[in-house]
Amino acid sequence: MRKKVSIIGAGRVGATTAQILAYKDICNIVLWNRTEGTAKGIALDLSESAPLEGFDTKITGTSNFSEIKNSEVVVLTAGVPRKEGMSREDLLKVNADIVKKICAQIKKHAPESKLIVLTNPLDSMVYLSKKITGFPKERVMGMAGILDSSRFRSFIANELNVSVESVSAVVLGGHGDFMVPLPRYANVDGTPINELIKKDKIKSIIERTRNAGAEIIKLEKESSAFYAPASSLAIMVEAILNDKREQLPCAAYLNGEYGLKGIFMGVPVILGAKGIDKIVEMELEKDEKKLLIESASKVKELAKEVDTLFL
Ligand code: LAC
Repeated sequence: MRKKVSIIGAGRVGATTAQILAYKDICNIVLWNRTEGTAKGIALDLSESAPLEGFDTKITGTSNFSEIKNSEVVVLTAGVPRKEGMSREDLLKVNADIVKKICAQIKKHAPESKLIVLTNPLDSMVYLSKKITGFPKERVMGMAGILDSSRFRSFIANELNVSVESVSAVVLGGHGDFMVPLPRYANVDGTPINELIKKDKIKSIIERTRNAGAEIIKLEKESSAFYAPASSLAIMVEAILNDKREQLPCAAYLNGEYGLKGIFMGVPVILGAKGIDKIVEMELEKDEKKLLIESASKVKELAKEVDTLFL
């Protein structure tokens, strides 16, 4: 029997994630939205593309949380997206209430699921999700590092005019202006980018990566990115459903790793059927560690705010 993946929120990220997962043909999908018509309409439209795209994924639209029962994975995309001039942190107050209500429902109806959170500000919303669901740390995670790393990879590939598939790169830390792209680990089929791209250019690629979400909002005004976030979510879902044990940067609960405790932050993890099977501790140089600690202190501030305001 196909496993069930529930997507909470049928906005642009949620709908696009459903579409990508349907094309992968690896599960059945429940698409939940506050407004039933939106969820049902998108589910129907997508289902009607099945004969053309050749998938057998069943897609159900609903506003009833009981439909998410027995989900293998729940993807939480609900919340308000950033608008121009807003930081991800500005969203904290609006989205914490939404996340709290929804997580109580996830706990009730899908208590054995693995939960992937996308709602911003990412690191604090995944922290809140863990507190509300009480799920073990292996089964709660946030999507951000895959997105940030993909942006970093695409900018490197563009600069060098090589296939994105030849480029490896990783971004750690919080999903905010203090994220930590690691140029020392970025390479083109094994050749470090430090040998291929001038220092100044690498610096500007790092800056662009940090601001990539905001760059899109500035262009689109009323909406934030959704294609790359949805692709990133689908990668995580697939790693879990197919027990791929793929190494991916995800927001994971840290319990001493990287010298940090009690927060969620972007680190490389091994993702498989159990959820986060392992946190991988990369060797970092002094300046890289410093950036990561700085990023963690921003993440901690928001987690503290969540503790005082919402728990
Ligand atoms: C971005 C939003 C999803 O980085 O945070 O585009």
